[in-house]
Amino acid sequence: MITILDFGGQYVQNIRRCFIEMGIDAKILPWDTKASDMKGAGGIVLSGGPYSVYQKNAPLPDKKIFSLGIPVLGLCYGHQSIAHLLGGKVEKGGVGEYGFAELLVSKDAIFSGFGKKGICWMSHGDVVSGLPKGFKTIASSGESRIAGFRKGRIYGLQFHPEVGHTPKGSRILENFAGICGFRKGKWDVKKFLKVAETEAKKIGEKAIIAVSGGVDSTVAAALSRRFIDIHAVHIDTGMMRKGESSKVSGFLRKAGVNVEIVNAEDDFLKALRGVKSSDDKRQAIGKTFIEIFEKIAKRENAKYLIQGTIAPDVIESTRGDSKLTGKKHAGKIKLHHNVGGLPKRMKLNVYEPLRPLFKHQVRELGKALGLPKALVERQPFPGPGLGARITGKITKEKVIVLKEATEIAEKALSKYNPSQYFAALIDGNASGKTSVAGGDAWIIDDEFIGVKGDERLVGKGIVIKSDGKWIELLRLQASITGSMKTVCRVFLLLEGEPGNGSGIILRAVDTQDFMTASPTQISLASLRKCAERIMELGVSFVAYEITTKPPATIEII
Ligand code: XMP
Repeated sequence: MITILDFGGQYVQNIRRCFIEMGIDAKILPWDTKASDMKGAGGIVLSGGPYSVYQKNAPLPDKKIFSLGIPVLGLCYGHQSIAHLLGGKVEKGGVGEYGFAELLVSKDAIFSGFGKKGICWMSHGDVVSGLPKGFKTIASSGESRIAGFRKGRIYGLQFHPEVGHTPKGSRILENFAGICGFRKGKWDVKKFLKVAETEAKKIGEKAIIAVSGGVDSTVAAALSRRFIDIHAVHIDTGMMRKGESSKVSGFLRKAGVNVEIVNAEDDFLKALRGVKSSDDKRQAIGKTFIEIFEKIAKRENAKYLIQGTIAPDVIESTRGDSKLTGKKHAGKIKLHHNVGGLPKRMKLNVYEPLRPLFKHQVRELGKALGLPKALVERQPFPGPGLGARITGKITKEKVIVLKEATEIAEKALSKYNPSQYFAALIDGNASGKTSVAGGDAWIIDDEFIGVKGDERLVGKGIVIKSDGKWIELLRLQASITGSMKTVCRVFLLLEGEPGNGSGIILRAVDTQDFMTASPTQISLASLRKCAERIMELGVSFVAYEITTKPPATIEII
């Protein structure tokens, strides 16, 4: 078994998932687990985390792990903690690296099959600037001279091989597993189903299940109905896409799930009146959902609420250990409405059969349960619906504009097959014009949620003008978000000009597990055509988001 020490990073579950998918057992233990309790481990991985090794009370692993004779791999903060503990130097880098970086590697067993150069995914502000004694550098990037080091079977990597956006990253972890003496196998959906069946059978009570029409809740319903007496409920929050609720009931019925549709637009608008911040909006939405579910559960005499929560929802809502830093939100990225939005006191018991899974595993499970491909591969639509795509206050008028923009955007963007694509409506509070790389730019002071160095950032956006090629745009967004501390979103202006009212942001991303993402590289000519149509809705500008995740998140707030 591989032991993963958890330093509060977002991708801890990704690390575990990579090994589990190779058929290698892996468990996550708290960062302060003693070396004497890890003696039987086949390998030790130190995760990333939202901390700086030089800060007071920074979490550091037990130094004795390096003399157990077990291979150790430190990732990001884990890499820095090895350097710090063994006498190297870690300091704040000149420029942060958030998103993609170009990596040069030396010949080493851990990079077997990687090639000499490649793309990797980074999320850090600190860098290792001095090697510990006896170590050698095995990788470097533009901003990280020591992006990888090694001594014997102790390795450190500044980047994240565990995320889907480091191409060949899983190959690096497979190589590490090989160094630990493991051989690769495969994630077994049948084994998961067996365990889920045993769990579900323990429920033994009637349950209501919240179905949004998204893949996760549909798969949760298809799984649960086999073993539990369920009553499926779809709540139309008023913030759905046009025609969504009737579409949802249609395909769920085809999948054998009868669904009750509840129109609750007024309840949601009332709960959201005057609410502005991202977390408060999700909490208000989560609470309203639960109030409605509790009423229905009482009527149906149901004791359980089943939700389609998956691993990324949990990770992003609950990461970090606030005790260590005294910071309220250390490592917590955003409250997904179905996790962080749940009220503290619930009358219903919650059952979440998909909680350990990532999106692509949910899709594999859906196929194994016999759901049609079109349904299983449907792009995700968040529970808060268009509410996750509006900055500032949510009003009926804003929702109406966004519904129209969404319809136009989805038609134009779907051709390119992004993993997720949509329109968002932002207030567009621009404090004035500035200049970036010789072109006009506007800082947007709306509240956007981002993630830098494993830490949540309530940041700003910037709208830029450029006719550059995609590779130049990606480099530009990396350098802007690396050097401008408060900016986590970069938007490329397509039509109109910020400064005179609200704007529409088009977003399309490519991602496997929704933990990291890159903007879909759509031709600017096609995007401009779509933007022209959206301008007719009376907004002051339309832009395309070119930020990766990190430093942005996928949804706008
Ligand atoms: P972010 O914006 O966190 O999105 O990068 C990752 C994935 O999660 C979805 N998402 C949500 N889903 N409730 C949900 O059911 C939420 O509050 C929520 N916020 C984000 C998002 O659509 C994307 O697929």
